[in-house]
Parts: sequence; structure tokens; C-alpha cells
Amino acid sequence: MSDHDKIYSTKLQDNTERSTVLMFVLTALALTVGGLVEIVPLFYLPNTGMSGGDGTYNGTAHKDKSGKTISMDKIVWNPATSAHKTLDDWQPGDGVRPYKALELAGRAVYIREGCYLCHSQMIRPFRDEKDRYGHYSIAEESMYDHTFQWGSKRTGPDLARVGGKYSDEWHIQHLRHPRDIVPESVMPNYFWLENKPVNVAETVQTLKVMTMMPFNPVPKSIYTEAYIKDAPAQLTGKNDLQALIAYLQGLGNHIKFEEGVNYRD
Ligand code: HEC
Repeated sequence: MSDHDKIYSTKLQDNTERSTVLMFVLTALALTVGGLVEIVPLFYLPNTGMSGGDGTYNGTAHKDKSGKTISMDKIVWNPATSAHKTLDDWQPGDGVRPYKALELAGRAVYIREGCYLCHSQMIRPFRDEKDRYGHYSIAEESMYDHTFQWGSKRTGPDLARVGGKYSDEWHIQHLRHPRDIVPESVMPNYFWLENKPVNVAETVQTLKVMTMMPFNPVPKSIYTEAYIKDAPAQLTGKNDLQALIAYLQGLGNHIKFEEGVNYRD
């Protein structure tokens, strides 16, 4: 008997894996339990789209730092009712807004470079996650993300609320050479992004496409013709590193939730 024929697994595992039907049943069971654990909390959380849109569900609602309920118009930015009418006037706390031109360019870099392969952008509603990353992510925060960047692997930390956590200078140094800041980091160096100018034509095209998406398209009253026409001026002369940092700095701080904990403190 060659070594290849030797079965190293335990008898139970071996028997299970050789029985197609049993494997099917057990896999289905595992998927069902996993699915339920993910889906059931959605019925009990406010603002998962099942709340009827008024920001409350089962008597719960999102709270701000002082414990006050956050109203729906502070969860999704609505220029018609907000004191700040344009993307340039928008302030953190006004609610989820579409990406600005430079952020959108940075988002394309994020996807192109495969940052999502090591970073998730989805804080789950568990205490350990909240203590580490801040308030759990809510559905509205991904509404203008086509495609969403939730990710499924965390080689590095979740980035859903990285916006405003570090200075631009920190990001420049970290993205250029992550090990200059965190000696044990396994993140690749991205110093060369500085030498790549932002792709203006592609970003302008993306702005236009965002107004045509089938789900939650960006209203044309936000990406107005004037805004799109002005975009090349905002993008020209910028490089991919600057765009990426603009994108990162805008992540997760659109709604003013309770304060999270900075785990690097
Ligand atoms: C091979 C996996 C890997 C890839 C790819 C990767 N990172 Fe990271 N990243 C890490 C690890 C590990 C850390 C934690 C150590 C550190 O800070 O460098 C990290 C940390 C970070 C942090 C700091 C997060 C925090 O809360 O402290 C940011 C921001 C970041 N990465 C952005 C990016 C961006 C943008 C890209 C794509 C251009 C990227 N990463 C690609 C692994 C990766």
C-alpha cells in the first residue's frame, strides 16, 4: 500500500466526507445556521431598510453621542431639507452623501489595487467589533456604493470608519511604506501611486453612470450638470494617492453616531 492510500483523517470525518448525502445535509445545516445568524439580527436593528424608513423599528433607533435619536434626514443627506445644499457645503453629520469626484477616483484606485482583499468595510453589530471599530455599519451607509466594498476577509483592520481617524500625512506615510509606521505590517507598499495622475475621463464617466444605477442612483440634483462639468477642474493635477486618501478620509463619518474607541490609543 502506497502512502497515498493511507487515510489520515479520523474515522468519523472520513465516513462523513465519503457519504455524499450526509455531506449535503451537514453543509445545508451549516449554511442555514450561518444564514440565520446573519439575517435574524436585521429584523431587530433599526435602519436596515425594514424599518419603514422612519428610522425606528421595534421602538429602537440610532442614537448620537448624547443619546438622542438620530432622525432619518440626518441618516441620509437630503439637500432639500438640509441646511447644506451642495456636495461642497455638506458637513459630517448631515447624513450619507454620494462620493465627491476625487473620492470616486480614489474608490476606483481602492478597487483596482484590491484593497478589499485584505480589508472589509462592514462593522458587524457585535460588542467586540463596536469596541474596536466604532458604531456598527448600517444599510444606508452603503447606499451609494456600486459595487459595495463590504469584503469578506480581514488581513488588515476593517476600514468602514477609518475616515478622520488619522491625518492625511499619516495616510501618505502609511500607504507609501506601511512598515515605516507599523513595523510588523504585511500590507504592500503603494509609494508608486503618487506618480500616477488621476484618470479624469474615467472618473467623469463614473459620475455620470452613478446617476443611472438601478438601485439608489445618485440624484441628478446632487450630481448636477454643473457639478459634473466642474469635476475635471477638481481632478486635474491630482494623483492616485491623493484620491485614495480623499476616499479613505470620507469613510464612515457621514452620520454622527456615538463615539467609537480608537484601538491604537
Ligand atoms: C496583504 C493585505 C493588505 C492589502 C492588500 C492592503 N492592506 Fe491595508 N492593512 C493591512 C494590514 C495587515 C494592516 C494593519 C497594519 C498596518 O497598519 O499597516 C493594514 C492597515 C491599513 C490601514 C490602517 C487601518 C487602521 O484602522 O489602522 C489603512 C487605512 C489601510 N490599511 C489601507 C489600505 C488600502 C487603501 C489598501 C489598498 C491600496 C490596502 N490597505 C491594502 C493589510 C493589507
